[in-house]
Amino acid sequence: MAEQRYKGIRVLVTGGLGFIGSNLVHALVREGAEVTVVDGLISGCGGDEYNVAEVRDRLRVIIADIGDREAVSVALADQQVIFNLAGEVSHSMSISCPERDLRLNALAQLRFLESCRVWAPQARIVYASSRQIYGRPRYLPVDERHPVDPVDFNGVHKWAAECYHRLQARLYDQPTVVLRLTNVYGPRQSLRVSCQGFIATFIARALRREPVLVYGDGSQLRDMLYVDDVVEAFLLAGLTPLPSAEPYLVANVGGPRPMTLSEIARTLVGDDVHYVPFPAISARIDIGSYHSDDRLFRAWTGWQPRVDFAEGIVRTLEFYRQHAEHYLHGAVN
Ligand SMILES: NC(=O)c1ccc[n+]([C@@H]2O[C@H](COP(=O)([O-])OP(=O)(O)OC[C@H]3O[C@@H](n4cnc5c(N)ncnc54)[C@H](O)[C@@H]3O)[C@@H](O)[C@H]2O)c1
Repeated sequence: MAEQRYKGIRVLVTGGLGFIGSNLVHALVREGAEVTVVDGLISGCGGDEYNVAEVRDRLRVIIADIGDREAVSVALADQQVIFNLAGEVSHSMSISCPERDLRLNALAQLRFLESCRVWAPQARIVYASSRQIYGRPRYLPVDERHPVDPVDFNGVHKWAAECYHRLQARLYDQPTVVLRLTNVYGPRQSLRVSCQGFIATFIARALRREPVLVYGDGSQLRDMLYVDDVVEAFLLAGLTPLPSAEPYLVANVGGPRPMTLSEIARTLVGDDVHYVPFPAISARIDIGSYHSDDRLFRAWTGWQPRVDFAEGIVRTLEFYRQHAEHYLHGAVN
């Protein structure tokens, strides 16, 4: 039986039908929490009711935009911890449709935080931010003091949402933790919507036994983080006492080690890797190499990533093979 750290604790998960959110929901149910989900099942994002089907009878699910004050007020009343994962992940879509990204990643967050202030002012908020806010790293590994200089609208709007969270803490004393996540992979990531990032594309191709295309020479570094490890980071961030009197903390959450895109691709498909030039727009928003310095988060919570990429990929492929009819049917990547 899982630990029961959340036994009887009332939690809200926004974006709880999406990739990371639904994995967090499964863990919270195992840990005994009383879980409410708010998710707008936004077209083009990775939300999917199938992701929580196994635990559906132990959840309250509200299908609504987090900016919908009326729907959200019902969901927020009496919550103790709010895991705020609703958002759009696509960098390329943020270029083709910046206003959409603004609406989903910034305006909806601003409205949601106003609702939190009214309906759940004591609850701790844990927000899923992104390494994307840093832009092209000026040094590696990237720590929290690295300049913020996003290369696309997604990074700009995630940064705006971070600033809203910081103000929420400073103006209204609402305890707030911002986690800047690196690239996450694992079960329940949608393979049926486009632009979910390179790892979804690589996984879909590996499952179909197709070659993987790598943009550039494959030497760019990433610190891939298995979803169970990021879920554990959220669970700890929800309950660990804040380290100082300030009600706000921002911390990177990274993977176990940096690896090249070539190694990532080869782990999935062996030698069946083709190196191709970057499409023009991808070249403009490519950040080169990235990996996280997450010592701050580790020191605060004692967390460390436990699943190496080779092991995480075995588990991921196994999951998709078991649920192939649902996740692979109509895969667009
Ligand atoms: N996946 C990654 O590698 C990664 C890396 C860094 C940060 N993040 C952040 O983590 C969060 C979760 O990402 P994911 O990969 O699970 O994405 P996902 O697309 O699988 O899930 C996001 C969910 O949020 C919902 N949503 C989006 N906007 C909403 C709104 N305004 N109101 C209600 N619901 C809304 C979508 O319907 C979807 O179910 C996002 O905020 C993302 O920016 C993810």
